[in-house]
Amino acid sequence: MSELETQIAFDVTTLRKDFPILSTMVHGKPLVYLDNAATTQKPNAVLDIQNIYYREQNANIHRGVHHLSEVATFEYEKARGKVKNFINAADNKEVIFTKGTTDSINLVAQSFGKTFLSAGDEVIISAMEHHSNIVPWQMICEERNAILRIIPMNDDGELVIEEFEKLLSPKTKIVSVVFVSNSLGTINPVKQIIELAHRNGSTVLIDGAQAVAHIPVDVRALDCDFFAFSGHKIFGPTGIGVLYGKAALLDQMKPYQGGGDMIRSVTFEKTTYNDLPYKFEAGTPNIVGGIGLGAAIDYVNIIGLNAISSYEHELLEYGTEILNHVSGLRLIGTAKLKASILSFVLENAHPHDIGTILDREGIAIRTGHHCTQPVMKRFGIPATARASISFYNTKEELDALVRGIAKVSEIFG
Ligand code: ALA
Repeated sequence: MSELETQIAFDVTTLRKDFPILSTMVHGKPLVYLDNAATTQKPNAVLDIQNIYYREQNANIHRGVHHLSEVATFEYEKARGKVKNFINAADNKEVIFTKGTTDSINLVAQSFGKTFLSAGDEVIISAMEHHSNIVPWQMICEERNAILRIIPMNDDGELVIEEFEKLLSPKTKIVSVVFVSNSLGTINPVKQIIELAHRNGSTVLIDGAQAVAHIPVDVRALDCDFFAFSGHKIFGPTGIGVLYGKAALLDQMKPYQGGGDMIRSVTFEKTTYNDLPYKFEAGTPNIVGGIGLGAAIDYVNIIGLNAISSYEHELLEYGTEILNHVSGLRLIGTAKLKASILSFVLENAHPHDIGTILDREGIAIRTGHHCTQPVMKRFGIPATARASISFYNTKEELDALVRGIAKVSEIFG
């Protein structure tokens, strides 16, 4: 996209008006929301559609012959189609609605694990995974007597691909890696990882939680076997997420949970399961969440992920530059390819103190281990302060962050 196109696509002042919460005052100061990796804010389009749903369309889906049930089913399934197009899945049946990324990964760990993992088999994850892409694998490995292997990373927070190649073996049943690290911002070479794993005959899951709102994703071009993401990280509601899976694999996998909607027939002697994707969607789902996610995807599509990506890249470069000039500040996560994350530590000030002082300035960041304790251990630190950006942020907000950090330095010396 040319610079002019980016400028036209990015009238940030106008776009910000779509997000009512962005005009909130916090402690008497205008909110500077830089905690987008934790959750994104919601545009009017997402807020309104949920209100309309509950006011005019609410009913349970896939069950009723009555009008409202048909409307609700239609809207929910329409949202599934929007997700399918957004990630370029081959078919709606490859899009399973879940509670979020964590739920999607647990589904694969339990269901793929119980179907395909045997004693002595290996699962590969990376050193920069969120706890949600570590613990589910530890649980299933313990249950199946399988072994968890870890791809290491270098001091910039980049995965060491040569070490990954050495870890691959006939025992490797599945590789599960993050696309964009939530605590470092590293964009991993997932296409290369998928190719190497496939050449080895291994299945691949990509945790796309921090990628979908920043980078265009095409699951068929990537050729990943599974792809997980959360609605709330892409301007949709909380409590809704997606597991994309190749139909041929999902067909072979056992259901994760039992209950209504996931069955074809039930007797006390034997139950047969529903077709995809319903086999993995037991119980009344988060209907309004699915519809809200569909609206969020429509909204993102109007702006365009290429435009979002290039604008955010400009912000990230600007933020990196000005933070690098702050005395005593060290960026954690300096990979060549990064998206949206500025994680840092400051001499003499604990990240929680940084977060608290910034909050008094109206600036929202996350501090702590970001559910990536092994990453903190790798860098020998207890925690970081993390500013995470979205397309509705501005250079002025990053300037405010730097002014806020200067106040922290004044206090802590
Ligand atoms: N995974 C989210 C984060 O990084 C909650 O903050």
